[in-house]
Amino acid sequence: MNNTDHTTATVEPAIRLESVTKQYVGAETVTALADVDLPVYGGEFLAIVGPSGSGKSTMLNLLGLLDGPTEGVVRLGGRDVTDLSETELTDARREYIGFVFQDFHLLPTLTAVENVTLPTAFTDGQYADRAVDLLGRVGLGDRLDHTPDELSGGQKQRVAIARALINRPEILLADEPTGNLDRETGVTILEEVRRICERGVAVVAVTHDELVTEYADRTVRLVDGRLGEGDDGFAT
Ligand SMILES: Nc1ncnc2c1ncn2[C@@H]1O[C@H](COP(=O)(O)OP(=O)(O)O)[C@@H](O)[C@H]1O
Ligand SMILES: [Mg+2]
Repeated sequence: MNNTDHTTATVEPAIRLESVTKQYVGAETVTALADVDLPVYGGEFLAIVGPSGSGKSTMLNLLGLLDGPTEGVVRLGGRDVTDLSETELTDARREYIGFVFQDFHLLPTLTAVENVTLPTAFTDGQYADRAVDLLGRVGLGDRLDHTPDELSGGQKQRVAIARALINRPEILLADEPTGNLDRETGVTILEEVRRICERGVAVVAVTHDELVTEYADRTVRLVDGRLGEGDDGFAT
């Protein structure tokens, strides 16, 4: 996306939630997000914190186009994507968004290179070269053919980051990216994420980990599905 507007010099957020409400309807209706406005810009590292049940995963799912809002609008690079079809959403995710999860989500029978190329499974072999390049960038150039059970937690998370970058996303979403890692390994991961962000990617990390907020440009806090800003994000 190139959203540079040379006449007004305004910059579109990479992704934006506008007046978004998300309800889960069941025996009891749960309002997981209530009237949330959140722009995230390219090159920005945003941390989202909040207690369990406050709506963090719901927000990440909406930013990742994995679920839609009950009310409000989701914009991807200025374009309203709220009412796209499943197929269109899948295409948009593949083109613009990378995901990193707390428990890595690597396939145990595949090597590091194979795991990284997974999001491109139906395209040609040029991606193997890019996977090797990405694994080298995250310091795993000597672990290309290792399977997940031959890798440490931090190495697995670096494979997951490389995989999230294979399609050159403009947005990187992470759910507790340091959740299963010791502090030192978490620092390595966060330094890697910062480098990605400094290349212009919009990064959003949902976290309980105070360490993540130290690396973020901005921290917002969710409480009962509502957004607060301008603090260091921790409920007391
Ligand atoms: N699929 C779902 N169906 C019903 N309720 C849900 C669903 N997912 C989440 N919730 C509820 O929405 C609220 C926010 O959940 P979630 O976004 O997972 O919070 P967090 O990630 O901050 O722990 C919680 O009250 C949770 O129980
Ligand atoms: Mg959650």
